[in-house]
Amino acid sequence: MLKRVIQFFKGVLAKGPDKEEQNTINDLLSPEAQQAFYQMTVADQRHTLNVMKTAVEIAEKQGVAGSFDMDFLKRCCLLHDIGRGPKMNSIRKSYGVLLDKFFHGWSLENSQKPSDSYFKDIMYRYYNHPEIGCSELMKLGMIHEADIILRHHSGKDEELLAHEQAVLRILMEADRLN
Ligand SMILES: [Fe+2]
Ligand SMILES: [Fe+2]
Repeated sequence: MLKRVIQFFKGVLAKGPDKEEQNTINDLLSPEAQQAFYQMTVADQRHTLNVMKTAVEIAEKQGVAGSFDMDFLKRCCLLHDIGRGPKMNSIRKSYGVLLDKFFHGWSLENSQKPSDSYFKDIMYRYYNHPEIGCSELMKLGMIHEADIILRHHSGKDEELLAHEQAVLRILMEADRLN
C-alpha cells in the first residue's frame, strides 16, 4: 500500500524528459514512435524513462549489455506503456488499482472494449494496454518491439528467441522496480 502511495505522488510530481533525455529519445525513436511516446502522460513518460535507466543498469550488472542490441532494449522500455494512452494520470491509475482489487469481476467484465464510461475506459486501458501498445507499434512497422510489449505483463515468452526472452525479462524486472 505504501508503495502505491509513493507511486501516486511520484506520478503527480513527475517531470517530462530533460534536454539530455530528449536527445536520447530523438536518437532511439523514429518521429512516429516519438509521437507515440509523447502522447503518454508526463507521469508515464517519466516512468518509462526510469524503466529504461534501470534496465540498462540490470543489463550491465548481468554482463549481457555487450551480447545483445541495447538500443532495442531501450526502445522497448520507452514504448512499453504507450497503450495506456494520453489520459492515464495518477488518479485514473489509482482507480484502476482499486477497481482491480475490490471489483475484480466487474472490472474484467467491463474492460473488453473501448468505452465512453469513465471507469470502464480506465479498466480497458489498465488491462489491455500491452495489446493496444502492440497493435500501435505493428502499425509503425516495429514488429519486434511490438512482440515484446505484448508480453510485458504476462511474461509469456515461449515463442521468443533467446535474446528476446532476455530483453523481456530485463524489461519486466525494471518495470517492477519503477
Ligand atoms: Fe504496463
Ligand atoms: Fe510500466
